[in-house]
Amino acid sequence: MALLKINPTETKAWEKLNYHYLKLQYDRIQDFFSYDDQRVKKMHIEWKDILLDFSKNKITDHTLKLLFELANEVELKKGIEAMFSGEIINETEKRAVAHVALRDWNNQLQLPFYQEVQEALQKIKVFTENILSGTTKGSTGKAFTDVVNIGIGGSDLGPKMVVESLQDYKTHLHTHYISNIDYDAIKETLEKLNPETTLIIIVSKSFTTLETLTNADAIKNWIVKANLKTEDHLIAVSSAIDKAVAYGIDADNIFRMWDWVGGRFSLWSAVGLSIALAVGYEHFIELLKGAQEMDEHFLRTPFQENIPVILGLIGIWYANFFGYETEAIVPYSNRLASLPAYLQQVIMESNGKNMSREGYLVDYQTCNIVWGEIGTNSQHAFFQLFHQGSKIIPTDFIGFINPFTPSEMHHQLMANFFAQTEGLMNGKTGAYENTDNTDGLAKYRIFRGNRPTNTLLINKLTPKNIGSLLALYEHKTFVQGYIWNIYSFDQFGVEYGKQLAQSISNEIKNQKVGQHDASTSFLLEHYLKKQNR
Ligand code: F6P
Repeated sequence: MALLKINPTETKAWEKLNYHYLKLQYDRIQDFFSYDDQRVKKMHIEWKDILLDFSKNKITDHTLKLLFELANEVELKKGIEAMFSGEIINETEKRAVAHVALRDWNNQLQLPFYQEVQEALQKIKVFTENILSGTTKGSTGKAFTDVVNIGIGGSDLGPKMVVESLQDYKTHLHTHYISNIDYDAIKETLEKLNPETTLIIIVSKSFTTLETLTNADAIKNWIVKANLKTEDHLIAVSSAIDKAVAYGIDADNIFRMWDWVGGRFSLWSAVGLSIALAVGYEHFIELLKGAQEMDEHFLRTPFQENIPVILGLIGIWYANFFGYETEAIVPYSNRLASLPAYLQQVIMESNGKNMSREGYLVDYQTCNIVWGEIGTNSQHAFFQLFHQGSKIIPTDFIGFINPFTPSEMHHQLMANFFAQTEGLMNGKTGAYENTDNTDGLAKYRIFRGNRPTNTLLINKLTPKNIGSLLALYEHKTFVQGYIWNIYSFDQFGVEYGKQLAQSISNEIKNQKVGQHDASTSFLLEHYLKKQNR
């Protein structure tokens, strides 16, 4: 089914949204509540363990109506259905976008990938159980105690973030993630490990990524120097089976992934093997089930009650009409410290595009800059700007009602969670509220408020709820890319940097600077001159 490709700014809905913005732009969020005592009732969604309150936004019922009109005018529903049907919607790479097939454990989607996914899951299950039980051992007959995941981007961020978030569900295995080509960091990791009891997973969809192969070489040497057999300690996850075999990995020790899964959407595949090893296969399946439940919600729920659609549309309202250029993710949980970094790749590598699906340079904003940090730490880092800065930063606050370990301390954390969104919205007008101005500084204590936030309040940090949360953002990303009429599933922008790095790497190796701009040449000469000084 050919998908509609339309410049969103040429839709009738966009024109209506423009006029609506002109009227609404100076309204204050807090006033919307006084006009409508049903606002919270209408602007929240309680879905399983997740409560979304989107009432603290610069929107009215009419805004939402027009945003849904936009979604319908660009035929978003058809786009969603095309993805879930395994259609080749990644047209620039001629691939399906079927990460939802990875968690379709009961074949609800009837996709042609089901059988091979089940085989891959079975391989993960058997391998994980053999490692955890000590049935599979290293070259010297010792059971494994540590797992080192070597990968970068989607071959690192997702597994690393999920393992960190599920610390409370850990097995006896310790996991370590090596991504950057920074030998100081690698050395620091390896010094803590016994090669005899360390399993190395080389994760690379392409099996050509310079950083990953460089790191793999260093760690392979570490295994060989310990007189251990690489076939006992090295496994790989890749879609390039031939390249992994050529690298020296036993074919039986290669877990396959597929070209219809983008790297940044791949933690649900064998890329997530370190997750299964870290928390056990059953918890890994719970993670997939949580994602599948969100898939079902996204695919089958009317837009008015559809969490990824609503969050995606509100984000477009801010990016394309209010002109906000960044948005923040602030999880009030140390376990989610890596969530912002993970979502940076999912969102910005998907929608950081300026060419439309019709091949013209877009003349409107696409992906915002996504960033964030855990609360309450972020309150002591950049919340000053949030409250009194000249820029407005729409922010998603993510919090959990029940900590894994009950404690009074959690209430303190959550008191901040609720206080911040309240303060950001309501502000405090200082001198205008007869506050103490004896020091003449009341004007510096004015908080103008009117700063929009979404609140995601989740019952508990469990594998299933994390699965649903991550799938939520994957689908929000899809919604926005589709409406922006861009291709969300390639990443040519990253390939360019990789090529430049390869040629400069050779120049440094040969100690001879090639043809570059004056600045790059100057810097490379300085680098070569100062080496080993
Ligand atoms: O960042 C570019 C990218 O291709 C990502 O999409 C991918 O997750 C990462 O590099 C690693 O690629 P590979 O898994 O092929 O090593």
